[in-house]
Amino acid sequence: MSLSSMPDNIIVRLNRVPDPGVLPADIFDLVTEPVPELRSGQILVEILYQAIDAGSRGMLDSAAGYVLTVPPGDRLPASASIGRVFSSLSDQYGEGVLVRLFGGTRQRYQRIDPSRCVGLQVLEPDVGEPLHYLGILGITGFTAWLGITDICRPVPGETVLISVAAGAVGSAAGQFAKALGARVVGIAGGATKCQYVRDQFGFDDCVDYKAADFTERLAQACPQGVNSYFENVGGAVQRAAFALLRDFGRVAMCGQVAQYNGGGEVPGANLMTVVNRQLEVRGFLAHVHYHRLPEFMAQVGQWYREGKLVQPCNVVQGLENLHEAINSLVEGRNIGQQVHQLTASR
Ligand SMILES: NC(=O)c1ccc[n+]([C@@H]2O[C@H](COP(=O)([O-])OP(=O)(O)OC[C@H]3O[C@@H](n4cnc5c(N)ncnc54)[C@H](OP(=O)(O)O)[C@@H]3O)[C@@H](O)[C@H]2O)c1
Repeated sequence: MSLSSMPDNIIVRLNRVPDPGVLPADIFDLVTEPVPELRSGQILVEILYQAIDAGSRGMLDSAAGYVLTVPPGDRLPASASIGRVFSSLSDQYGEGVLVRLFGGTRQRYQRIDPSRCVGLQVLEPDVGEPLHYLGILGITGFTAWLGITDICRPVPGETVLISVAAGAVGSAAGQFAKALGARVVGIAGGATKCQYVRDQFGFDDCVDYKAADFTERLAQACPQGVNSYFENVGGAVQRAAFALLRDFGRVAMCGQVAQYNGGGEVPGANLMTVVNRQLEVRGFLAHVHYHRLPEFMAQVGQWYREGKLVQPCNVVQGLENLHEAINSLVEGRNIGQQVHQLTASR
């Protein structure tokens, strides 16, 4: 492809540190720049869809304590993308092929060196719903699988408790725990979400943390206590969940979404419970374990092909609407995987 026929790139940059809460429309700048020139072996991918995660908000403000913070003026990292190869100097990835990749930034065209790109996979027409490769078959599912199989380690009959149960990671974690034979109880915001978690994700029960009698209802939903807890949120929900853990219970510390929306740390569990009940509380970062992706795909891919897994995707269109795609998480409007479609459907 000659340089004259190359499109312009549009790159998203953070305008300033946002105030706590929902993001205003001018929080990101869309900057037009030339697409980078390809070197031997590289491909240029036109990005079509990108995952939106709880961390997409957390990374905008250091007060969130998230694993990374984007300084104003910088590009925004994306956890995973789906795109079409626009031009190619690679023997392996031809023009027009649909691919999924991990990492990269929020921009219209991404230059990729396939030998150095994690999670790069050609999406054939028969591999399943492409958007699931951003979610339950992507980093989201991988995160849930690590927390469940490495740390929660449920055996049939045990109770696993999962916070942010209607979200992308939480809904996947619950379905994996069910597939392993556990009794699974979720925690989510609102009666409608809780019903969805029970009816569609197949959890045995789900409790609304916004209800006035949440703590009592949670105890009723876990009459034998909890053997393991998949922790996504922090704050009052964490406090109630830790109180139900049985002796030698396991806690997978996956995230603290209650502090990602600005405003800083939120007080959580009474940590004397960790001592008194001899709990195992372990944090983890999915990207550190990428070498285990084949193991993940072998187990979760099998459950997926058997039709055991469900993941709705909530799509927001338009580069100029990225703030809205993130606000959907901040305001709890999403069920399942939140997805940003960079342009309107063609
Ligand atoms: N450790 C890792 O490597 C890793 C990797 C990926 C993700 N994670 C973690 O996984 C968790 C889930 O992330 P996700 O991307 O799947 O997001 P998500 O669960 O799809 O979406 C966020 C949900 O969080 C809830 N929420 C938002 N603000 C809240 C607040 N202030 N207090 C309580 N709940 C709030 C809302 O659900 P409700 O309506 O139910 O409140 C919202 O729908 C996060 O903690 C994230 O950091 C960790």
